[in-house]
Amino acid sequence: MRATDISDQITTTLVTEEQIQEKLREIAAQVAADYEGKDLLLVGVLKGAVMVMADFARALPYVVPMDWMAVSSYGSGTKSSGVVQIRKDLDTDLHDRHVLIVEDIIDSGLTLSWLLENFESRGAASVEVFALLRKPDAAKVHVDCRYIGFDIPNEFVIGYGLDYDERYRNVRDVAVLAPHVYS
Ligand code: PRP
Repeated sequence: MRATDISDQITTTLVTEEQIQEKLREIAAQVAADYEGKDLLLVGVLKGAVMVMADFARALPYVVPMDWMAVSSYGSGTKSSGVVQIRKDLDTDLHDRHVLIVEDIIDSGLTLSWLLENFESRGAASVEVFALLRKPDAAKVHVDCRYIGFDIPNEFVIGYGLDYDERYRNVRDVAVLAPHVYS
């Protein structure tokens, strides 16, 4: 039995660990071809993207630098304000760099649309997005996302980096949290 057996706390498994790893291999092959000869920088958005960054970076066939950003929405007390605060900035100068932002999930799209604009204003040569998960029905703004793992329904999902109250990030699959856990 897995140490993270949470079958009584979820309703459905949406994406299994095996499906994630297979998709990461596919996308890593595409990225490797698309960025051939270019100086690629991966940027992960803490904390959710830790798992996808770790596995995706290791699926790439060459060494690649990684940097990290921590942001949070603020202003209205909800995530929907679209106002983003930088809690930890990058250590890397983006000028003339080819940046690939690695995200666990696009929900409303507000975080990424702010980040894209912010990175472009720093003089990056290119800025693209890889999001493992996307909830099309939750979109508030359109985000130009070059690489997408899986489109999923607009449910409360946890696992593979995604949390509820800082729990479940180390669950290996992506699953729908049972309402009794948060209601
Ligand atoms: C999640 C996720 C994205 C963002 C997506 O992060 O990792 O960064 O929300 O939501 P949006 O499309 O509606 O902007 P969260 O703020 O929950 O922080 P975490 O990664 O530390 O869990």
